[in-house]
Amino acid sequence: MKKKIAILPGDGIGPEIIREAVKVLKAVEKSSGAGFEFREGIIGAVAIDKCGDPYPPETHKLCISSDAVLFGAVGDPKYDNNPAAKIRPEQGLLRMRKELGLYANIRPVELFWGQYNRSPLKEEVVRNTDMVIVRELTGGIYFGEPRGRSDDRQEAFDTCRYTTGEILRISEKTFNLAEKRRGVVTLVDKANVLETSRLWREVVTRLHKDKYSHLILDYLYVDNAAMKIVTNPSAFDVILTENMFGDILSDLASVLTGSVGLLASASCGTGVSLYEPVHGSYPQAAGLDKANPLATILSAAMMLDDSFGMHRESNLIRNACRAIIEKGIVTEDLSDGKDYFTTSEVGDAVAKQIIELVKNIKPLSCPEVG
Ligand code: IPM
Ligand code: MG
Repeated sequence: MKKKIAILPGDGIGPEIIREAVKVLKAVEKSSGAGFEFREGIIGAVAIDKCGDPYPPETHKLCISSDAVLFGAVGDPKYDNNPAAKIRPEQGLLRMRKELGLYANIRPVELFWGQYNRSPLKEEVVRNTDMVIVRELTGGIYFGEPRGRSDDRQEAFDTCRYTTGEILRISEKTFNLAEKRRGVVTLVDKANVLETSRLWREVVTRLHKDKYSHLILDYLYVDNAAMKIVTNPSAFDVILTENMFGDILSDLASVLTGSVGLLASASCGTGVSLYEPVHGSYPQAAGLDKANPLATILSAAMMLDDSFGMHRESNLIRNACRAIIEKGIVTEDLSDGKDYFTTSEVGDAVAKQIIELVKNIKPLSCPEVG
């Protein structure tokens, strides 16, 4: 049975980077028994332009009838400086998260092969960084009601709300993930100020005591966590945090390694899961064939692993990415500034490398003939 993949390129560089990921998945099909069916949908500014809705019902239907969603990015500068715009591309992403029940955003932050020298931090600080940020994605101040303006529009308000149930389900996921890693969960909150943070502490502490006491749980206030992520990133294993803190800290953490163009992410929850690069829509580079497609290609690898259990194929993609980085077939952001390649050349190279890698797989011992 072919795996159905909803392809949502979105805005900015989205279409270019997604195209390369699809190219790579086609190479995986050619070199393994895997079969994929790609079905494209619209989201974000592109969807507003086409039908006035950043997450049209057809796109939602496409997602829920798929085995996984591969997503590029949303956002368009024409909305950024217009706070009065009633319909915005980002609403498409937020509605998609909510309607697909994607309550857990998983963002691994790791140093890629030989990329130490790209970090803005000293090598001895960044070396051994290997953390995962688990961000709650469908609650908190992003979605809490009431929100709005006073009648005279001179006052604005948003509401941060969490229920015990919302905290429990993501905490379960986080502890399960930590069990497969170094076993340390850091809950990041602002429990010295916020009532919602105190509920998080209560719920997470109880769950830890009842079910996961073989793991280590510690706590940090978000401001302190921001300092530690920069000064001692390798101290973290799994960070668990609410929506807004997770948004900010995951961007902070993503630049530590100096290779944000390589970072993949997954959002999962009650149904189909979604995979996307951590970087955004990078509108300045849109259409220029210069954006790094590797984060999207590695997001596709994450999809094969997590949603389809295709570990061999996923490793094939990762190994191919590693090989082309080692050969110096990279876009400008990972280059020495002199020799670099286009988005499509990098995608071509990964696809070709996959075919090569498979060709070279031979049994170590061949029985004698004759
Ligand atoms: C992210 C983005 C989104 C968010 C925006 C585009 C709405 O920054 O995925 O981190 O704030 O969640
Ligand atoms: Mg963000």
